[in-house]
Amino acid sequence: MKIRILGTAAGGGLPQWNCGCAGCDTARRTGAARRQDCLAISADGAAWYLVNASPDLRSQLLATPELAPPPGTRATPLRGVLLTSGELDHTLGLVTLREAAELTLHATAPVRAALHGAFPVGPLLTPYTKAHWHTVVPGEPVELAGGLVAEALALGGKRPRYAADLPGLPGLPGLPALAAGEPSAERTDWVIGYRFTEADGRAIAVYAPGLAEWTPAVDRAAADADVVILDGTFATDDELAERTGGARTSRGMGHLAVADSLPHLARRPGPRYLYTHLNNTNPLAHRGSPEAAALAPALAAAGAAVAEDGVLLDL
Ligand code: MLT
Ligand code: MN
Ligand code: ZN
Repeated sequence: MKIRILGTAAGGGLPQWNCGCAGCDTARRTGAARRQDCLAISADGAAWYLVNASPDLRSQLLATPELAPPPGTRATPLRGVLLTSGELDHTLGLVTLREAAELTLHATAPVRAALHGAFPVGPLLTPYTKAHWHTVVPGEPVELAGGLVAEALALGGKRPRYAADLPGLPGLPGLPALAAGEPSAERTDWVIGYRFTEADGRAIAVYAPGLAEWTPAVDRAAADADVVILDGTFATDDELAERTGGARTSRGMGHLAVADSLPHLARRPGPRYLYTHLNNTNPLAHRGSPEAAALAPALAAAGAAVAEDGVLLDL
């Protein structure tokens, strides 16, 4: 199994276009940028899948040799896209894929509904490409090309802000309006993670960029994994409030802070843990900063590190 990490920043990326904080300013000056969270995965090294489609997708694809068509062909190694949420930072890149002759897309029922309703990228793609949509059901493995198997883990009911109000969406009639980011009581599959296995191999990888809680199901999925790429949006639960003066907590936004997931990782040694989806307020996002250096020993003690753009994991 091969995983190419295409981006490791939360929505907005690093630097964020409208932010002049110390971290964004340094990233702007030094070029130490992070693209938005996304990865590519393959069991056989030939058939590749994107997991999420970030707004940075075009530059991510161009920077990834495995995803280039062989010279003289239009035979893209990209066989499809799996989504972990309907959030804009995970779906805006779908429009970038419109030149594909065909496009296979996997998403849960509420995410599919959102992408055909409040953010109608599904209907938008129809005149451009032949899109094949498949519904992902947590716990039901999906067999993909090249021997890759993906099993979704339900991680939470946090709807994208654009879908806070979803009256009468196809397949989801009559959902009550929610405050932005408020979890939906009806569904726990607005946000999912994936546990990837290989049909004829032994490698196991878990990817969960939006992890609201360390649930028993997450714990079981991590137990025998080689690598777990997980939510590193915020370092602490009150990071955003402290840095921006707002009232939103990390957990309230559907993200378990690194300080709160680290004890679980320490209890579950074995996998290599990589934090991704780092917000630009997170000191861990800033390579070489004194704050990141101060946190490094705690991460290392738990078998964890910060994921970096462009890294190829060969499992
Ligand atoms: C998230 O990860 O919580 C969302 O992408 C935040 C947002 O962009 O609204
Ligand atoms: Mn996000
Ligand atoms: Zn900033």
